[in-house]
Amino acid sequence: LDCFVCTNCPFSENRSNVVFGSGNPKAEVMFIGEGPGEQEDLQAKPFVGRSGKLLDSMLGEIGLSREKNIYIGNIVKCRPPKNRDPLPEEQDLCIDWLRNQMAILKPKIIVTVGRIAAMKIIDPNIKITKDHGTFYENKKALMMPTIHPAAILRNSKHKPLVEDDFRKLKLKIEEVCAHTY
Ligand code: URA
Repeated sequence: LDCFVCTNCPFSENRSNVVFGSGNPKAEVMFIGEGPGEQEDLQAKPFVGRSGKLLDSMLGEIGLSREKNIYIGNIVKCRPPKNRDPLPEEQDLCIDWLRNQMAILKPKIIVTVGRIAAMKIIDPNIKITKDHGTFYENKKALMMPTIHPAAILRNSKHKPLVEDDFRKLKLKIEEVCAHTY
């Protein structure tokens, strides 16, 4: 696949690996994060560092497994220097890879993880602290922003908020998905 040799943006110069995505390619639920961190860059897999472990455990609380029930990708496929937020123009150089992934997967539900993904995928005016846990609908999917697990690692007060979002997600899956549940 061309994505693995992409040099559209400067992040490609310092990458160990392109982090394309992982999970079940038939999943009805897609998670979209911001971009690879250090561990993701080294292991070529999204959400495998500390944030990823926390994400896995919270998915477990609602009975979801990464490999079985969801597909995970990121806005940018290569690690930004020092994990900084990718700039809008850097996101734009990468976003077509994700758009293609979304077109192939056709998820019924999209969960954006963190502020950057929510603003890019759902609405540039989203306020993640206020709007997390709300479902937005377009022609293609239901979309819910949630708070990034990295924010929980910085301040545990966010954890019950994300657990609440995930309980809402679970109910929505039961309502609209055919065979994830
Ligand atoms: N944070 C993200 O947003 N994406 C990853 O893949 C890992 C951490």
